[in-house]
Amino acid sequence: MYKAGIAGASGYTGYELLKLIHRHPQLEVGWLTSESSAGGVYSDLYPVDWDYPLISLEDGLARVGEVDVVFLCLPHAASMQAVKSFYDTGILAIDLSADFRLADPAIYTRWYGLEHTAQELLQVARYGLCELYREQIRGGQLIAVPGCYPTSVNLGLYPLAKAGWLGERVIVDSKSGVSGAGRKPKLDYHFVEANENITPYSVGYRHRHVAEMEQVLNSANGTAHQTRFLFTPHLLPVNRGILSTIYVDVPAGVTEDEIRGLYTESYDGEPFIHLIPAGKQASLGHTVHTNRCAIAITPADPSRPNGTEYIVTASLDNLIKGASGQALQNFNIVKGLDETAGLL
Ligand SMILES: NC(=O)c1ccc[n+]([C@@H]2O[C@H](COP(=O)([O-])OP(=O)(O)OC[C@H]3O[C@@H](n4cnc5c(N)ncnc54)[C@H](OP(=O)(O)O)[C@@H]3O)[C@@H](O)[C@H]2O)c1
Repeated sequence: MYKAGIAGASGYTGYELLKLIHRHPQLEVGWLTSESSAGGVYSDLYPVDWDYPLISLEDGLARVGEVDVVFLCLPHAASMQAVKSFYDTGILAIDLSADFRLADPAIYTRWYGLEHTAQELLQVARYGLCELYREQIRGGQLIAVPGCYPTSVNLGLYPLAKAGWLGERVIVDSKSGVSGAGRKPKLDYHFVEANENITPYSVGYRHRHVAEMEQVLNSANGTAHQTRFLFTPHLLPVNRGILSTIYVDVPAGVTEDEIRGLYTESYDGEPFIHLIPAGKQASLGHTVHTNRCAIAITPADPSRPNGTEYIVTASLDNLIKGASGQALQNFNIVKGLDETAGLL
């Protein structure tokens, strides 16, 4: 039996991870950290009867020898040094923050407005988008779990990107449930502000997650071709779930059957990819409370069977496939376990 430490267990992704670990046949809880609730027990935080003690991050580090893996569910910037401290002990570190997702520190600084203070680890971090990078993940000691929005967009577009069929510009319209912002209270996420409302934010080329789309999709084809991603996220008044609606232009002459063939081939046998049949769309209902990503592709104009405009819809649960589920999927891959353990 493996044991897990969770740094930042009091937040939403930590809570979700704990629920998943309880379902995992080969993983159990070692210790859990919270700075604000250290000294208390887990049932103080959520409506559960789990009386795990909560300890500080510093105490977690001192007790690293008791666990086989540390999942870090901390905000970016705070995670950077914590990851380094754990990594230096030789433990497997699975980081849910953005701190080790971008390979180039200059790109990290451009989007996050911070100097990266553990740049040497960017060389060893593996980007944990399981369906695309399984082989690299297998030998990893530091896994950077991808962001929630980019997981939906990158899985939704990868077959087209790999074929070199993404044009100059792709427009991505995404919506996320409120848990995507974490548990810490903030006015925008107050019930009265978010409920019965829908608000775009960081419109166009402003949101940090654009960098992950560029990193994955602009390297998929092995050419210098660069697609520009115009990305507008929206806050949706639901607890959880992401839906991305993506507008693409494929090269003239490419048929719908060829496109469907690419998706079928790319995701053949993938337990967590749900390709939606022609004529239907991915919805939150396809994926919330699961580790799946649902993907649909549809020609934009039914009167132009050979048209170049397509709409991809992709959905996932931001707390599971977009965070804690994918973190656990990475753990299963690194340890050579059944990749679906704890996740079906
Ligand atoms: N929510 C999502 O859907 C989602 C999806 C993908 C990725 N992520 C990423 O996953 C990470 C965790 O997100 P979350 O939604 O779980 O956040 P959250 O609900 O706000 O929880 C944050 C956790 O980090 C701890 N923490 C905050 N600042 C800290 C510090 N300076 N030192 C040590 N611990 C600190 C908090 O502990 P206290 O108990 O002391 O407050 C809490 O346990 C973030 O990097 C986020 O971007 C989140």
